[in-house]
Amino acid sequence: MELNVTDSARFDVARSNAIWETYVNLLQHCGHVRYSEEFLTKKFHLGLLHGDLAYQLNLAVTRAPTIQYDAQHGYAGALLSEVTDELQSKINSQHLWCSDSEELRAAISSALAALTVPVSQVLGGPWRLLTYKSWSTPSLADVSGAEKDFGNTAWHTDGMPFGIFKIMIYTTALGPGLGGIELKADNGEVTALTTPAGAWLLFFNSHLWHRAVAPTIPNTTRRVIELTICPWHQMVLTPVHLGLNARQPIYPI
Ligand SMILES: [Fe+2]
Repeated sequence: MELNVTDSARFDVARSNAIWETYVNLLQHCGHVRYSEEFLTKKFHLGLLHGDLAYQLNLAVTRAPTIQYDAQHGYAGALLSEVTDELQSKINSQHLWCSDSEELRAAISSALAALTVPVSQVLGGPWRLLTYKSWSTPSLADVSGAEKDFGNTAWHTDGMPFGIFKIMIYTTALGPGLGGIELKADNGEVTALTTPAGAWLLFFNSHLWHRAVAPTIPNTTRRVIELTICPWHQMVLTPVHLGLNARQPIYPI
């Protein structure tokens, strides 16, 4: 299942994806990309940010003003996902979405600085941040009428081109009852992450089946910063936010 993309949007998504795949292939051909064997085999890499940085990031997500998720929320040049009114309503009832605050941007800049080397080692070259977004997910126990298995909490892949990846930075601890993410390998084996706050997951989000898991312990919130990245010919770490419903820039420019 490709998440939230209707038939009418598929053509543009497919065209943008094809252009991106061609471009990343070209970068690879020119020696800018050499994925680590571990990344190619496992389709994910898990790291941990320093505790002080995790604390700073969590504070920034907690303090960021919230905004309603809006299917039209994307800036010029961004490829948007198709989101139905029903899904948009559920997304807003079970998650709190961060607007693009100065404090959040500064915290994300610090995270990008910390990730520069370890992510370059996984990708085998420089990389670029394409867009970020951030949200909080309260416990299912604290949301009346909360549902599971919809949107990103159902098993899915993201339908992005090969060469565009996501990094999920979890600013709260993950584990049973705390919420997190589950990854399903090709052999069906499921990995549920249990980590301290500050874990970052770089993964093949469009090739590795996954689902977000909401907390179930009352008064518990899962907070996450999502970075959409790609290999590039030089490091570009500007904290760009293309909008809540942006998938990627339409073109690799
Ligand atoms: Fe996803």
